[in-house]
Amino acid sequence: MTIGIIGSGLMGTGIAQIAAAAGESVLLFDTKAGAAEKAVASIGDMYRKLAAKGKMSDPDAVHARITVAPSIDAMKDTRLVVEAIVEDLDTKRDLFANLEAIVGDNCILASNTSSISITLLAAKLRRPERVVGMHFFNPVPLMELVEVVKGLATSDSVAEQVFATAARWGKTPVYAKSTPGFIVNRVARPYYAEALRLLNEGAASAASIDAIMREAGGFRMGPFELMDLIGHDTNFAVTRSIFNAYFNDPRFAPSLIQQELVEAGRLGRKSGRGFFDYAEGATPPAPQFETPRPAPHHFSIYGEDPLMAAMVVRLHSFAQVSTCPHLIADNATLLLTDGKRASERAPCERLSNVVLVDYASDFGAAKTLAVTRAATCTDSAYASAVGLLQAAGYKVIRLRDLPGLAVLRTMSMLANEAADAVNQGVCTIEGVNAAMRKGVNYPIGPLAWAEQAGVVRVREALQHLSEYYGEDRYRTSPFLREF
Ligand code: NAI
Repeated sequence: MTIGIIGSGLMGTGIAQIAAAAGESVLLFDTKAGAAEKAVASIGDMYRKLAAKGKMSDPDAVHARITVAPSIDAMKDTRLVVEAIVEDLDTKRDLFANLEAIVGDNCILASNTSSISITLLAAKLRRPERVVGMHFFNPVPLMELVEVVKGLATSDSVAEQVFATAARWGKTPVYAKSTPGFIVNRVARPYYAEALRLLNEGAASAASIDAIMREAGGFRMGPFELMDLIGHDTNFAVTRSIFNAYFNDPRFAPSLIQQELVEAGRLGRKSGRGFFDYAEGATPPAPQFETPRPAPHHFSIYGEDPLMAAMVVRLHSFAQVSTCPHLIADNATLLLTDGKRASERAPCERLSNVVLVDYASDFGAAKTLAVTRAATCTDSAYASAVGLLQAAGYKVIRLRDLPGLAVLRTMSMLANEAADAVNQGVCTIEGVNAAMRKGVNYPIGPLAWAEQAGVVRVREALQHLSEYYGEDRYRTSPFLREF
C-alpha cells in the first residue's frame, strides 16, 4: 500500500526520496502550489546523479513510484502518512484531524516534528493510538537515525510498524518516549552548553575549544563551528524550548552569549557571521596553540592508566617506565584530569608543578591535547610538560584552570544527560548510544564512552564540577551512580 507524505520541503523531499528508493509507492502533497512538483523533479535529478555514480540501477523506475497528490483526499488508501509540514502545533493538529476523516482506520499517522509532543498532537483525535513520531534527521538521505516516538496513547503495534518501516528504508530506528527534545535534541544540549560556559568563563577562545573537541574529543565539528552552521536562532530556540519544557531545569539553561549573537543578528554561516566571520577574505579562525618548547632533559612515565596507554606508546621511545600514575617531565608532574582543578590537586596529592592533561578519545591518534597548570607550577616546569607532549607529536592548547577541562567535562555531561534519559525511561542504553552516533555523528555513544573511560571517572568529574560550581546543573544522574 502507498505511503503518504505531507509537506514537500527540505524534510518531506528527503523522506520521499528514501521511501521510493526502498521500494515504496509514495504520494506527496503540499498546500503550496507547485511545491510538490518541484520536489518530485529535484528527487528525479538526485536519482539520476546516484545512477551516474553507480549507486542506483533504474532511476526512472524508482522516480515513477513518486506521485504528486492533487489534494489531501488522495491519501485515502495509504497505510502510513508522514507529515513534514511547518513546525506549528495547531497546523499539525488540524492536518491530523483532516486526515482522520480521509484515511482508513488502520492508517498510521506519523509526525516528523522535532519539538512538539506526540501526546499533544494525538490528544484530540478519534484514534490517538495511531499517532507516532517518525523523526528523521537532516539531511534525510545521509543521516541514518529515525527516532520512533511514542506518545502516551501510541499503541505498541503502531510504533513497531513504524520501527520496521524505518529499518526497511535503510535507517537505524530507535524508540523514544515523547518527552521534550526526544533523545538527540535533549542529550546533545551539553555539547553546546558546556562549550558556551567554557567560553563565558574565559577558558580559551572559541576556535581553540573547537580544535580541542575535534582533535582530542574526536567530534567531526567543534561546538562553535557547529552552532554557526545550525544557526544561532535555531540552536538558541531549541535550547530555550527544552529549558522551558523541563520547567527551567538549570541543566538546560540557555547562554547569554548565544542570546546576544541572536540579538545582534549574528546567526552564523547563513548571516555571514556568528562566532566566526564568513565574509569573503575573512581570516579563518585560528586556535591558540602553545609555541614550540624544547623537549625536557629528563622524563619518566609512572603508571598504567589504560586511558593514557596509547599516549605512553608515543612517548615510549624517550622514557623510562616505572609504576605510579603520572608522567614526570623534568620537575613537572603531568596528570590526567579527574575533574578537579590543577590548583586543587597539587596540594591534595602533595605534588609540585602540576600540569593536567585533558581527556582524549584516542591518545594514540589525537593531534591536539588540552592542558592546564596549577597556580604554583613554575614557567620552566610548564614548558617542560608542553615540550614533552609536543615531542610526542601533540599540539598543545592551554585552558584556564577549570574543572574537567573541555573534553572530560563535555563528555561527562553528555553521559550524564544520556543516563538521565535512560533513567526516565525515554530510551534504552543501546538506544541513546545509537541515536547520538547516527543522529549527530558522535564518535561514540555517550554511555559507551562512560564505560570506556570508566564510570567512576565520570562520576568523579561530575562531583568535582558540582562542588566547584555549587549548581544543580552538575548533579549526577541516579542512573550513573548505579551504572
Ligand atoms: P520546510 O519549511 O522546508 O517545508 C515545509 C513544507 O510544508 C513547505 O513546503 C510548506 O509549503 C508545507 N506545508 C506547510 N503547511 C502545510 C499544510 N498544512 N499542508 C501541507 N503542506 C504544508 O520545513 P522542513 O525543514 O522540511 O521541516 C518540516 C518538519 O520537519 C517540521 O516539523 C520540522 O520541525 C521537522 N524537522 C526539520 C528538520 C530540519 O533540519 N529542517 C529536522 C527534523 C525535523
